[in-house]
Amino acid sequence: MRQSRSQQLPKTKMVSEQQGTGKIPVPFAFCLLSVVCLAVAACVARDNKPENKAPTTDAAEAPVSWDDQSNRDWLHRSQFKAHMRHMWIDSNRIVSAGRGDMEPTWEEISAAAGDIQWRAELMANFWSEIAEHVQEALLCIEDEDRVGITNELDGLSNACDACHMASWSPAYLHVTGSIVDGWLKNLPSEHDVNEVDDNPPPPIANRDSMQQLWHNLRMAKLRLRNWQVEDLQEELNEMAPIVTTRVERWKGVAKQAATIVKLASSRQSDGMKSAYTDMTHTCLTCHAELVGTREILVPMPWDGSVK
Ligand code: HEC
Ligand code: HEC
Repeated sequence: MRQSRSQQLPKTKMVSEQQGTGKIPVPFAFCLLSVVCLAVAACVARDNKPENKAPTTDAAEAPVSWDDQSNRDWLHRSQFKAHMRHMWIDSNRIVSAGRGDMEPTWEEISAAAGDIQWRAELMANFWSEIAEHVQEALLCIEDEDRVGITNELDGLSNACDACHMASWSPAYLHVTGSIVDGWLKNLPSEHDVNEVDDNPPPPIANRDSMQQLWHNLRMAKLRLRNWQVEDLQEELNEMAPIVTTRVERWKGVAKQAATIVKLASSRQSDGMKSAYTDMTHTCLTCHAELVGTREILVPMPWDGSVK
């Protein structure tokens, strides 16, 4: 307990493991499946005017076998970043499809915005569930309902890990090349394997924020055990704004994306610009706080003919 926070936190551990209360929540593995199943395959060809076209070279030359089974790069791919990259591509498609003097390609705008919408809703739902557990736990404190608080805090950890199962890279979830080799031979993976990601992603504010939440949660559980009600309340009150800000931001992105889908479906350009600008403003607000600057981060600004 006397170590610094970063020492206490094994970088690649699930929250529930970190609590020492259990193993990786197996049912949450299904989250991974639903994420894969939901992947949108919306390809709408567009008859762009030549000057609207970005130069294309590399994609055409990529070998057919690029996504080969022997390629294990995917073990190191963060699914959270994959969501982000898709939303970036979607945003840029919306702008590109609304550009120029020709009638916008409504189908492409609608498909791209629809993709942003479900991804943002997915994120909002993970955070909403956490927000509900925080609020319920606070209510249970008022009733001095210890069993209730225990259940809410357990639900909270599970809700955090539900997103981790869905969003971390396999390597971050302990799935490494040798584990895959074992599975291919029908060998079980050991639980709590100590195959630490020795090359963790760079430190960004988002990870500090995650560590803050984890610290609050761990302390809340400790305060509950010792029945230090005011301190417990304080930990939860510290978590609440962090969590609700995320809920609001993702809901905001989803709402504007839904507006874009609706406008595109009715082939209506009025309001498109403001929905897009509001939406990407939320991307940027969150990035300013949690990410910093990167090459691929900021979606294209609106400069289409669509108003
Ligand atoms: C919307 C998805 C999502 C939710 C919800 C979520 N996390 Fe995370 N968490 C992430 C991602 C993404 C990472 C970063 C993994 C990486 O860097 O590749 C992360 C990383 C972490 C880490 C590791 C930080 C480090 O330094 O390596 C901890 C601890 C953590 N989260 C705790 C929590 C806690 C506690 C909650 C619930 C209160 C929570 N997370 C909710 C997505 C989420
Ligand atoms: C609630 C916060 C939040 C919102 C809203 C948000 N992002 Fe992000 N975004 C992040 C975080 C955190 C990262 C850094 C992930 C990491 O490196 O682990 C990130 C990273 C990215 C990246 C870089 C991924 C990479 O390869 O490094 C892109 C691109 C991106 N976001 C696009 C978007 C777009 C487009 C939107 C809006 C439609 C958006 N994001 C909305 C939090 C957010």
